[in-house]
Amino acid sequence: MERVGIVGLGSYLPSKIMKNFDWEEIVETSDEWIINKTGIRERRIASDDLCTSDLAVFAAKEAMDNSGVDPEAIDLIILATSTPDVPLSSTAAIVQRKLGCHNSAAFDINAVCSGWVHALDIGSRFAGTSGYQNVLVIGSEIYSRILNWDERSTCVLFGDGAGAALLQKKKVGGVLGSWLKTDGRGSEVIQIPAGGIRIPFGSEKFLDDDRYFQMDGRAVWDFAVEAFPEAVHSVLQKVGMKINDVDFIISHQANLRIIEAGMKKLGLDMDKTFTNIERYGNTAGASIPIALKEAVEAKKIKTGDLVITVGFGGGLSWGANAMIW
Ligand code: ACO
Repeated sequence: MERVGIVGLGSYLPSKIMKNFDWEEIVETSDEWIINKTGIRERRIASDDLCTSDLAVFAAKEAMDNSGVDPEAIDLIILATSTPDVPLSSTAAIVQRKLGCHNSAAFDINAVCSGWVHALDIGSRFAGTSGYQNVLVIGSEIYSRILNWDERSTCVLFGDGAGAALLQKKKVGGVLGSWLKTDGRGSEVIQIPAGGIRIPFGSEKFLDDDRYFQMDGRAVWDFAVEAFPEAVHSVLQKVGMKINDVDFIISHQANLRIIEAGMKKLGLDMDKTFTNIERYGNTAGASIPIALKEAVEAKKIKTGDLVITVGFGGGLSWGANAMIW
């Protein structure tokens, strides 16, 4: 298998900004509580006429433009999402149609907030083999539509957005390897209980609250502050590098306090990471590519840097990718 790298990035954030003060009008919360507990100041909310596929298309178009690749040249689209447009067909297929990537295969993956690290691993394995020259990896989410807007313990945490990367074979640098893990014993720690086959909407067991995102926040916290450093150390061990070799970490933007705790456990200063959770909240499977793109644009990441992307979330699932930028 040949080495593969990211040759173009794209992102899309809806224009509508919802500030913490706006949430104060809807639920019993405060700007102060949200900032103290999470670091979030505002998030973006997609307008009603947009679906997850539309956000993905905006981000993917930018990634293709930035790499000079036409839609017909795309061989594969992998979309990480836990907020698909519809239960089926795949949202990736809808994205493929909207982009006009008529020569590509396309499929979704769902690893919730760690979707991106999984999609990048899968994408780089395809792109490293023959027959796959241009692989689009996208994370796209509209969490505002799966949240219970009356439930203050979850509704203030998330936002909508999409990020995308175009992968190609590369002679120098690129993805060195990935490390992924799931613990399905925690599959109910973060969940939407109804709407699938177990409890279909409108069935006897269906309760209206169960159509929405639910989370045991404290259990997720305990998991995340361990999962973050474990994933980083594990991927470094896999690729034969050490923590001192790391130039930059891009974490899933779940909570600024989790990122601070994770960086502290790794013994790394906060200037070795980039956060935008202050502006976008938690955009689940989209947060890492959005943050990666902004960190590159801000010149925090330079050619030759060892960059680790690390994700953790529903499943429970977690993992990391190591790449030379
Ligand atoms: N505004 C004001 N008060 C609130 C709010 C709110 N929005 N939400 C909860 N509270 C209250 C609670 O009701 C509770 O009040 P009580 O003591 O009177 O009962 C108090 O604040 C403390 O609640 P806790 O849930 O114990 O607060 P905690 O310190 O655990 O912080 C938080 C909550 C921020 C959610 C934290 O647990 C956390 O960050 N967990 C991780 C969540 C996460 O990262 N999820 C991402 C993964 S999700 C995915 O993969 C899609």
